[in-house]
Amino acid sequence: MIEFSHLYKTYPGPIHALKNIDLSIDKGEFVFLTGPSGAGKTTLFKMLSAYDRPTSGQIQVAGFDLASLNQTSVAQFRRRVGVVFQDFKLLKDRTVFDNVALPLVVRGDRPSHIQNRVEDILDQVGLLAKADQLPDFISGGEQQRTAIARALVHQPGVLIADEPTGNLDPRLSEEIMDLLERVCAQGTTVFVATHDHSMVKARKHRTIELLHGQVVAGARP
Ligand SMILES: Nc1ncnc2c1ncn2[C@@H]1O[C@H](COP(=O)(O)OP(=O)(O)OP(=O)(O)O)[C@@H](O)[C@H]1O
Ligand SMILES: [Mg+2]
Repeated sequence: MIEFSHLYKTYPGPIHALKNIDLSIDKGEFVFLTGPSGAGKTTLFKMLSAYDRPTSGQIQVAGFDLASLNQTSVAQFRRRVGVVFQDFKLLKDRTVFDNVALPLVVRGDRPSHIQNRVEDILDQVGLLAKADQLPDFISGGEQQRTAIARALVHQPGVLIADEPTGNLDPRLSEEIMDLLERVCAQGTTVFVATHDHSMVKARKHRTIELLHGQVVAGARP
């Protein structure tokens, strides 16, 4: 489902953010990504979501070859994945509802279906009461949950979530992790970067560890 081979990402500097990454993740797996700040977790997720290109090497996700995607296939690929960015990337001039609805609007779903599906996912992340607010007028944890709802609303085959509980209190963190595990049980491949070691320990999923841009544990299922 997800396969990295000999992948490198070098930023100007040069900063070797990812070095010779070889990884594979099976369809339907739930996998954590850990490692200290600066280890390369967000960079790896940017490669995986086709948000940025590797310097060299290959990535295959859901049958797409990400190192050589053209614009049309980037759009097709984006419909298959859900991404929760570390900095949320919400549209500031759209309400919570409209931010979450976006993946369904883009693919041309019927308004009645969009209404039902967005209300359902907002309910699951506990945000129904904030549907009409703009992102600047809700809390950091509420913004994070909006980003999670937007990543899940179109029922993606792959969910990539960069510290999805980083701004949440312990009770909400548990609820969001329960939600991600339910989504995984329904067939979505889930890949979650986190600094929360107690959560990683408690949830007992495969854990890939990055250090200085290299995989030091968990490369294979
Ligand atoms: N756009 C960029 N330009 C240059 N260097 C970058 C860029 N983005 C990240 N880096 C560098 O690449 C390395 C990996 O950064 P990355 O954001 O992937 O770390 P991370 O594991 O996500 O850290 P954190 O836990 O703090 O989120 C760091 O040395 C960082 O400074
Ligand atoms: Mg990061």
